[in-house]
Amino acid sequence: MGDIISAVDGGIMRLRLNRPAKKNAITRAMYEDLTAALDRAGADDNVRAVVITAEGGDFCAGNDILDFAQGVGDFQSVPLDDLPVFRFLRALTFFEKPLVAGVQGQAVGIGVTLLLHCDLAVAADDVRLSLPFLKLGLVPEAGSTLLLPQRIGHARAFAWMALGEAMGAEEAHRLGLVNAVVDGSALSQTADDLASKLVRLSPSSLAHTKRLMRDPEALWQVVRAEGEIFRQQLQSPEAAAAFMAFLNR
Ligand code: COA
Repeated sequence: MGDIISAVDGGIMRLRLNRPAKKNAITRAMYEDLTAALDRAGADDNVRAVVITAEGGDFCAGNDILDFAQGVGDFQSVPLDDLPVFRFLRALTFFEKPLVAGVQGQAVGIGVTLLLHCDLAVAADDVRLSLPFLKLGLVPEAGSTLLLPQRIGHARAFAWMALGEAMGAEEAHRLGLVNAVVDGSALSQTADDLASKLVRLSPSSLAHTKRLMRDPEALWQVVRAEGEIFRQQLQSPEAAAAFMAFLNR
């Protein structure tokens, strides 16, 4: 089994992060696999919704910091749109079919910001959502500088990104970051049940509604603008020190 598992059944593509020993931290290869899976899902008329979940006790510890450090040179030499992470973010931003996520345990960085691109999200009651970008000397990504204030208000969004510790399930539900909180044992089934309801709806109605609610072109401009600054910030002494601190723990 690879680090990304995908399977299609009953109109649903189930995408599962499958690297539990590393808390499903995402490598460049995993971003490539996720992009390819979303492209396949988009092109396949039999797929009418995608469910994203993760193996093990944690949803996703964010970018794999070791893989990221190894690829840091690419951020300076490769055009932004060709980087695996940006190819994934583009696929996510322009994805026209409904996306449903089920999250549990630790959800860090992209493990949180990708939820803002999902149309429905369910959390296990043990979820801990955190956004460490500023602590790492970076800037928030994946359009979250737009999507997060839109979702939870500017004051809360800034405080969470700049000062905040991990957010629990109850608060995430209260703020509208997730639609429901369930026991961890019911997470995958609940996400599946929601997706099963969506596959009964008109695909064109869903695609239009997503586009009207999200304005992907405008969002993509924000994702790229964040990316350009993220790229600069990667060269900052604070970012280098934060990565070294994690790698030398
Ligand atoms: N990149 C690479 N490896 C990671 C990782 C990441 N983002 N997050 C966790 N891991 C690895 C750990 O190195 C460890 O590997 P090992 O067993 O081979 O030593 C394994 O996953 C388990 O993680 P560990 O840190 O021991 O678990 P924990 O429960 O003590 O802490 C976290 C969990 C998520 C709080 C902690 O791992 C963490 O802070 N990770 C980094 C999060 C981050 O900053 N992500 C980048 C966002 S851009």
